[in-house]
Amino acid sequence: MADNTLGFYDTADLREAARRRLPKGLFEFMDRGNDDEVAMRDNVAVMQSIKLNPRVLSNVENRSQEIMLLGKKQQMPVIVAPTGSAGLAWYEGEIAIARAARAQGVPFTLALGSMTRLERVAAEAGGNLWFQFYMWPDRAQSHRVIARAKDAGFEALVFTVDTPVAPGREYNLRNGMTIPFKFTTHNTLDVLTHPRWLTEVWLRYMLTTGTPRYQNFPEETQTKITALPMGRSSNFCSNITWDDVRELRKLWPHKLIIKGIQHPQDAVLAADCGADAVVISNHGGRVLDAAPAPIVTLPKVVDAVGKRITVIVDSGFRRGADVIKALALGANAVMLGRAPLHGVAAAGEAGAARALQIYRDEIDRVMGLIGCTAIDQLTREYVDMSYVHGRSAT
Ligand SMILES: Cc1cc2nc3c(=O)[nH]c(=O)nc-3n(C[C@H](O)[C@H](O)[C@H](O)COP(=O)(O)O)c2cc1C
Repeated sequence: MADNTLGFYDTADLREAARRRLPKGLFEFMDRGNDDEVAMRDNVAVMQSIKLNPRVLSNVENRSQEIMLLGKKQQMPVIVAPTGSAGLAWYEGEIAIARAARAQGVPFTLALGSMTRLERVAAEAGGNLWFQFYMWPDRAQSHRVIARAKDAGFEALVFTVDTPVAPGREYNLRNGMTIPFKFTTHNTLDVLTHPRWLTEVWLRYMLTTGTPRYQNFPEETQTKITALPMGRSSNFCSNITWDDVRELRKLWPHKLIIKGIQHPQDAVLAADCGADAVVISNHGGRVLDAAPAPIVTLPKVVDAVGKRITVIVDSGFRRGADVIKALALGANAVMLGRAPLHGVAAAGEAGAARALQIYRDEIDRVMGLIGCTAIDQLTREYVDMSYVHGRSAT
């Protein structure tokens, strides 16, 4: 029988393959956190300290992990999170991950900062597509890109609100991964010692569409990643407010999701502004290093708005058991960031699909082991938070 594991048995295998394949500077750009990386480590450590209380003898022969999310049925309780650099992990990596997500029956969120035009992702991948964006200082430019996403058929708009100023990521400076990108001896050697990435990703772009660029940006700012004005660094929008959310609610006729919520009261404000969902997220520990692990914030947000809007959570979900913990704490679904990104870097569409299959198999196994046959049976009764060291009172 054909081995469909590709030799990857858990998400750590995918990460290790990505580490080997990508230049170090690029791998760290995708994989690391910010400042001292406390939030990134805590996301995983806190998750691991949460226990599941199994129930036995409940006949778990027929298990299903299908859910309804925002009015649509999906095969698994996960969503692919937006990760701006997927197109540097693999040639047109956004299309590769979107196709994998479609095949596995889950939504894919395209990042504003992708290397592939949103219209091409919609035309060549299809499926349940969500579009993520950061507001630009020029609101009219932002509203135009949102109109494009609407015309291309994206079903949900994800407004990321956790990065009003640039986060501190010193390793990018040490690795010469600055925007605009400048060639130095250090980063040139790094690329030359990763010939597969050089030929299969970088040279392929050079022979087709040219130096990668942020293809969704307005024409006037859409320069190569080696030139200014470029990238979010020149576009952080520090004056976003709830008025922007209210404005978006008027502009966007489909599902509106606010990503990067970390306080129950902000979730209430999002609901009051007409958002359909929030994503509780600390951006995978990449923005505020003192941020709490979203899995701990989750029950508080569920208590505050769970009856009014959909609650999604991300950051640090590395195992199917982690997804089960969040669902049992009241989340409607979980977003996965690094795992599909590592998957696509390791083996393109097949690698991204493998990442999702790993979660599917693990979720299925854990459901059986704790005595559950359907996602709506998961309740807080299954969760033991007492091992979480130093957690704030819920
Ligand atoms: C390399 C990378 C790029 C990301 N780019 C974006 C982005 O452009 N927009 C966004 O809202 N979140 C972005 N994120 C955050 C993810 O959407 C998600 O919140 C986070 O990765 C979840 O944590 P996890 O990686 O532990 O699963 C990025 C994350 C990574 C790792």
